Amino acid sequence: EIPADLRSLADYERRAAAHMAPEVWRHVQEGAGREITLRENRAAFDRIGLLPRAMADLSGTTRIELLGRSHAAPIMLGPIAYQRLANPDGELATARAATALDTGMVASTLSSVRLEDIAACARLLAAEFARPAPPLWFQLYLQQERGHSLELVRRAEEAGYEAIVLTIDAGLKPSGIVLPDGVEAVNLAGMPRPRQTSTPGGAILLGTPLAAAAPGWEDLAWLRAATRLPILVKGMVLADDARRAVEEGVDGLIVSNHGGRVLDGLPSPVELIQSVAEATGGAVPLLLDGGVRQGTDVVKALALGARAVLVGRPQMHALAVAGMAGAAHMIHLLRTELEAAMAQLGCPKVEMLTPDRLVSLAG
Ligand code: FNR
Repeated sequence: EIPADLRSLADYERRAAAHMAPEVWRHVQEGAGREITLRENRAAFDRIGLLPRAMADLSGTTRIELLGRSHAAPIMLGPIAYQRLANPDGELATARAATALDTGMVASTLSSVRLEDIAACARLLAAEFARPAPPLWFQLYLQQERGHSLELVRRAEEAGYEAIVLTIDAGLKPSGIVLPDGVEAVNLAGMPRPRQTSTPGGAILLGTPLAAAAPGWEDLAWLRAATRLPILVKGMVLADDARRAVEEGVDGLIVSNHGGRVLDGLPSPVELIQSVAEATGGAVPLLLDGGVRQGTDVVKALALGARAVLVGRPQMHALAVAGMAGAAHMIHLLRTELEAAMAQLGCPKVEMLTPDRLVSLAG
């Protein structure tokens, strides 16, 4: 079912263009502005070299602990909206792949399958395998009314999601794709859609309800009081903000620039995570996303202080090319590459991935 020439995430990406409508392909791939940040997310990984230990003992594992759960590898599926744009099964295919590969998944507020159905699907397949479902987290976009945000949190709790990921960096993103028939933000049925104020001359943002509804620190405090689930904030990039978030009681941080889709000019998470790690001193786990495409990227992120990474666009590429099987294969490829990289580096345990394994390749 999987074509034999698909041997890397880059292969899936190349192949995916032919499996998506042009406007969907553009929507998935694009970054903000001139895509300086989008390019930098890859370039920053490529500037880092790796220094192997010779003839090391290679007994080890990729397994990690995160928020009280064991993960088979430090790799999760990050929140990606509207996965039915890539495949008719959408998030159900992703949930099955995540379950088959025992990999954590973050479901988006803007999923095109109801959050309850995603969780039920994972649980059903896990039961067939006679093992627990993988960790499922719910990514929250705050709604204009707190009542609606609270409703989403309660639904996620009821459905068995184990953490809330509060994304703070996307409220001010210019509007994206016009959704084709049958692809909808089904979780938000009955809630007002965020208003996009625009004029023929361009979008007006400051002073509109859209800007007024952007998440603030008071919203984080509200959310902290509203749920007992662990909260991770996604989109923190600076040390001072990260320290404050820890003081406000968050349980984890995702260092992310939204895949280069919001502020063009933001440095890569790879460049920023070390200062966040220093500022937070291990108080909470740090995750990182943006540009992770091969096993050596995961190794580099972990050596810089990440507990785990998330992949974004590769999910859509794999779903478009081969549905559930593609998504599962994508995870498998990344995981086997990670194992190879750890072995080749002479660091068969994640704790052995430290900054002294890295060297700058920038000339
Ligand atoms: C995203 N991202 C995103 N993030 C989020 O918190 N909620 C969401 O619904 C979405 N939706 C979404 C759709 C698409 C098409 C893309 C490309 C991205 C951001 C995503 O979680 C992640 O931060 C980046 O995609 C990571 O970068 P890579 O792996 O795509 O390079």
